[in-house]
Amino acid sequence: MRKAIYGGSFDPVTLGHLDIIRRAAKMFDVLVVAVLENPNKKTLFTVAERKSHLELVLKDMPNVEVDSFEGLLAEYAKNIGAGFAVRGLRNAVDFASEYQMHLINRKLAEDLETVFLAADEEHISLSSTNVKEVATFGGDIDFMIPLEIKPYITEKYKK
Ligand code: PNS
Repeated sequence: MRKAIYGGSFDPVTLGHLDIIRRAAKMFDVLVVAVLENPNKKTLFTVAERKSHLELVLKDMPNVEVDSFEGLLAEYAKNIGAGFAVRGLRNAVDFASEYQMHLINRKLAEDLETVFLAADEEHISLSSTNVKEVATFGGDIDFMIPLEIKPYITEKYKK
């Protein structure tokens, strides 16, 4: 069985993430979308909230599971029996950091293969950080996020 993990912060999930998930779900028998629990990083949404947003937007994708993990992605992948780590690439800056992460993950788990998916051109400017930046100032975020989660974002920025 080909099992892959797509780890991330997903704070919040964007249309770019969703596109990578949809495409990766076609490539693997099971895709685990896993939210990193990082107590040192200040996030807009809690891990439980981010998992519930992912569950909402991925509910019609039967081979996609939502989970969370602490610590190293390579260890988590070993623990759940995932042989592939999916990462999206938007540009050369992503490539530089993702390539380094791939090399480190390869040292930590030699059987873990990283699979890079190139972002669709309409998603290359999207990031969770940009969603939060625009939402902070009340701008339009509809082109960046799955609309099901918009109320949760709006709620956080309500004055
Ligand atoms: O949404 P992000 O910030 O792009 O996700 C990055 C993530 C969570 C995939 C990455 O930071 C990660 O795997 N963190 C866990 C710690 C780890 O395994 N680091 C890799 C070795 S440098």
